[in-house]
Amino acid sequence: MSLVLAKIINLPKILDERGNLSFLEETKHIPFEIKRTYWIYDVPGGETRGGHAYRTNQEFIVAISGSFDVTLNDGNDKKTFSLNRSYYGLYVPNGLWRHMENFSTNSLALIIASEDYDANDYIRDYDQFLFSSKAR
Ligand code: TYD
Repeated sequence: MSLVLAKIINLPKILDERGNLSFLEETKHIPFEIKRTYWIYDVPGGETRGGHAYRTNQEFIVAISGSFDVTLNDGNDKKTFSLNRSYYGLYVPNGLWRHMENFSTNSLALIIASEDYDANDYIRDYDQFLFSSKAR
């Protein structure tokens, strides 16, 4: 999958003196139907998450709290997105190698996924990823 399909998506933002509110609905604000959500938290300083690609799973990643960087790689190009606000997120199409790093203290990454968890959907070997990305 090409890196050009990855993009930051701004979410609705309802400003309110009582506190702001953002939301998302499947297919309306993100380009897939939602099967699963998970979140990453309590990441020790200097740790990296991810380091794999998904064959079919698409994701939308939001920094609900704090900040972190997501680096995407399509086998040719790499791009790093810094996420640090809860009113936008990063759409990650399937078929991209990705990792997440530079988590700030108390950061919370919310990930919305298009597929149920399936260990067989992961490509964890970088050479295999490069081989399959060239074949596409
Ligand atoms: P993994 O996706 O490898 O984490 P990361 O990419 O952030 O390094 O998942 C870590 C572990 O959690 C792995 O054993 C699988 C399990 N897991 C589930 O059981 N369900 C899920 O939805 C996810 C995302 C992970």
